[in-house]
Amino acid sequence: MTNESLRFGLIGAGFIGQSHGLAINAVNRVFGPRPLRAVATVLADLDERRARAQAERLGFERWTVDWREALEAVDAVIIAVPSFMHMEIAVAAATAGKHILCEKPVGLSSHQATRIAAAAAAAEITSAVGFTYLRAPMIRHAKTLLDRGDLGRPIHFRGRHAEDYLADADAPFSWRLDAKLAGRCGALGDLGWHIIAIARYLCGPISSLSGLTGTFHRTRPEAEGVQPRREVENEDWAGALLQFGTGAVGTIEVSRIAHGRKMDIAFELVCENGTLALAGERLNELQLYIDSDPVGESGFRTIHVNSAHPDYGAFVPAPAHGLGFNDLKTIELREFIVAVAAGRNVDPDLEQACRIARVCEAIIDSAEGGTTITAPEQAPGPAAPVTDREAVGR
Ligand SMILES: NC(=O)c1ccc[n+]([C@@H]2O[C@H](COP(=O)([O-])OP(=O)(O)OC[C@H]3O[C@@H](n4cnc5c(N)ncnc54)[C@H](O)[C@@H]3O)[C@@H](O)[C@H]2O)c1
Repeated sequence: MTNESLRFGLIGAGFIGQSHGLAINAVNRVFGPRPLRAVATVLADLDERRARAQAERLGFERWTVDWREALEAVDAVIIAVPSFMHMEIAVAAATAGKHILCEKPVGLSSHQATRIAAAAAAAEITSAVGFTYLRAPMIRHAKTLLDRGDLGRPIHFRGRHAEDYLADADAPFSWRLDAKLAGRCGALGDLGWHIIAIARYLCGPISSLSGLTGTFHRTRPEAEGVQPRREVENEDWAGALLQFGTGAVGTIEVSRIAHGRKMDIAFELVCENGTLALAGERLNELQLYIDSDPVGESGFRTIHVNSAHPDYGAFVPAPAHGLGFNDLKTIELREFIVAVAAGRNVDPDLEQACRIARVCEAIIDSAEGGTTITAPEQAPGPAAPVTDREAVGR
């Protein structure tokens, strides 16, 4: 790292890696080169064709198929590979003193997340987690309105994240369905991390929960149109009843098989004096109901995104023109760069990520045991050694 620039290694150039690569290019232009200018130094992907093509497309100085090479001559790494690779890469990166932006879910399990967090803390590097939707201006604005106090205390939260990328019962098997590669959590690992992060952002830590899960498409073809079929190893759907430490209550639901739902991350938060609501397919709008409005004028109003909402103004001068998914990744990268320059982590950091990992596992434990789990965010004790059970994400 020089006084002016931050050299990035991008590890994984698939769906989310591409968004990160675009963000490295965009962040200097959208926010300017201060405090540090992002430099696309090296891109690593196991798939040689993809590594070469994406490096060229995204303007990286060089590419490699070996992620270890991406730790050399960079200041920071973005970890955008399947979850089973997170721990090895993140611990090596932290040990080498590289700052880390790690995608969610962090590692295969809460044990692995804990190890990553410990390595980052010991190395005193800056870390961030890919909580994309927490960067959305209207979710930030919802928090601002809550903190201002006019709405009173949050009372109940209803959140969901539903998509239909696996709604087709014959959609082929992928790493996301394999517990060795994705972990014990399916829809919870993929989608639950986002809606739980939003629930905690608005309502605070979760103090108890009870969960339910379901796997409805129990086998899938090994590959497109190919027999035999392979057993799916994690859940398609999960739901949970939540109690927050503040006394608020809530529900969350996640589904990867919800026909017709493409990016349906949504919440409704009822407070003492009003309600906030947001739907992810309309991420640039926040619905606000204020109880004290005159009877003849009461109803939900729509607040369209504008330059009063955090970071929107850096992209567009006029209101309601909308930000998209890749813009949220640009904001995320901007926060990471600012945090590196300031020598701190991005909130929620890896310690908070461990808590979310434990909440996801507690939902599954609760579903399996038919029990309510208290203090689901707390670590059970000192990090246990890696076991066979952990190695397969169970
Ligand atoms: N924050 C978000 O909104 C969001 C969205 C999608 C995915 N994700 C997360 O990002 C991660 C990656 O997901 P994805 O959808 O991009 O997956 P993907 O399958 O589209 O891409 C993964 C890429 O990693 C590469 N890869 C695999 N093993 C590698 C290794 N050892 N070294 C180098 N490259 C390797 C693959 O070749 C592939 O190009 C996951 O943790 C996922 O949960 C986050």
